[in-house]
Amino acid sequence: MEPDFWLSRWQEGKTGFHGAAVHEDLVTHQERFLGGGPHRVLVPLCGKTLDLDWLGSLGHEVLGVELSSLAVDEVMARSDQPVTRDSLGPYQRSRTGNVTLLCGDIFEATPELLGSVDRIWDRAAMVALPPTMRPRYASTLRALLAPGGMLLQNSFGYDQSKMDGPPFAVLRDEVAEHYGDWGTELLDTRVLTEGKFAERGISAFEISLTLVTKPA
Ligand SMILES: C[S@@+](CC[C@H](N)C(=O)[O-])C[C@H]1O[C@@H](n2cnc3c(N)ncnc32)[C@H](O)[C@@H]1O
Repeated sequence: MEPDFWLSRWQEGKTGFHGAAVHEDLVTHQERFLGGGPHRVLVPLCGKTLDLDWLGSLGHEVLGVELSSLAVDEVMARSDQPVTRDSLGPYQRSRTGNVTLLCGDIFEATPELLGSVDRIWDRAAMVALPPTMRPRYASTLRALLAPGGMLLQNSFGYDQSKMDGPPFAVLRDEVAEHYGDWGTELLDTRVLTEGKFAERGISAFEISLTLVTKPA
């Protein structure tokens, strides 16, 4: 999806992807993914997820990258800490407490500009991108992750012929294509047979959680 698609969604308030709580998989697997911290945690395509605040409250240094300034402003507005704003390369940077948000395109992120991170939480991020954009997206994250770092990948499997994305189907085999040369472990998988996707004709909507570890 091109930036204008997402900027329009934010302007029109079409943010049905936003969750009202911290993502259950992040909470369930926090010991495995976040133990031994504090970590520098990247949340690509972060929207206004409450996961940002939660990670910051645990003492992690949180870095979110998001196209929409509306999303960034909402995250900053719900903080009770001072907010500072400046720029970093092509990004508008906003900071509050342990949370830094870069407003701009993830494809401009490099380790030279941002520094490396030791955790990446991919929440509704790769699945937001069409197939043609995903190899470059994965390469961008691979470059940012420090040796020994971990990436937690939430992905969706469903019959793509039944629905246009986003969210797109990113099957487990594809996750292995992007990261399989590193260590990958399937932590969880569950299938939804009811709810908003069933109403759109998808009888089985699989949610998978994969932990990827970059060799040290
Ligand atoms: C499906 S939403 C998910 C948001 C968030 N991860 C969540 O779970 O609530 C995808 C988000 O990615 C942002 N986005 C899309 N393409 C982007 C890009 N190239 N760089 C940065 N952000 C992008 C959109 O503005 C949107 O907020």
